Amino acid sequence: MTRMAIIAHGGAGANPDAAPNIQKAVDIGAASLMSGSSALETAVLVCSKLEDDPLFNAGTGSVTRSDGSVLVDASVQTGDGRLGFVVSMPETPNPVKVAAGLIDEDINGLAGVGARKWADERNYLRSPVVPRPTGKDGSTDTVGVIVVDSDGNLALATSTGGCSDRPAGRVGDVPLPGCGFWAGSGVAVAATGIGEAITKQILSFRVHNTVTSGEKTMPDAFDEAIKNMFGPETEIGLIGINRDCETYARANTSMPWAQWSSA
Ligand code: GLY
Repeated sequence: MTRMAIIAHGGAGANPDAAPNIQKAVDIGAASLMSGSSALETAVLVCSKLEDDPLFNAGTGSVTRSDGSVLVDASVQTGDGRLGFVVSMPETPNPVKVAAGLIDEDINGLAGVGARKWADERNYLRSPVVPRPTGKDGSTDTVGVIVVDSDGNLALATSTGGCSDRPAGRVGDVPLPGCGFWAGSGVAVAATGIGEAITKQILSFRVHNTVTSGEKTMPDAFDEAIKNMFGPETEIGLIGINRDCETYARANTSMPWAQWSSA
């Protein structure tokens, strides 16, 4: 049995007071891991708890697009190369569950009404997503979770309502493999912040490779990526788990996060 670990964030630029809510979700995940759940099941569980918490810009509490719509993105990946992601889904309070449903399908990703149709055919909850109350800023607070289970399997899950006031069809980093997330080779990374800036840098994949190649330790890779790839005006955060099951979180702004690991 290997050391188990969970790390989760509530978004770059998000209110630091949200950390206890993240810890609560992580602790639920820890109890589930201890009772035998897989890394994938646990990552989806913790992420869905954060989606259900209106404090976060993911699922319930998501920001609205410029046309007033609420459209959500999510992604799931395992260290053994399985992948699922959904983009701009309407009426989906838990997009991470739909992304997880894609993980063993022939297709990896679905978008918009097509994603919703696929979810309807498989009875995933359809319900209007209650957005973040008007006037509450929440431009970049995506959620992300990474888990290692007792067999050493890695899984991650991310979810977001996107950035406030972007057009309805806008695609951020969260559902784009290699940009908002990447897992493999015993190392997993999830990013948060301005999706366009993260996507231009293919941030998670590059940081993952810097760590797996042995070029840098995870904390050094995080620090250098944040400093060298982005200006200080661009809010960016990273979480990750390395081959030794060590968890790391770094950001150039406030980023509430929480972690748990077994003895
Ligand atoms: N990082 C969230 C987004 O830009 O959509």
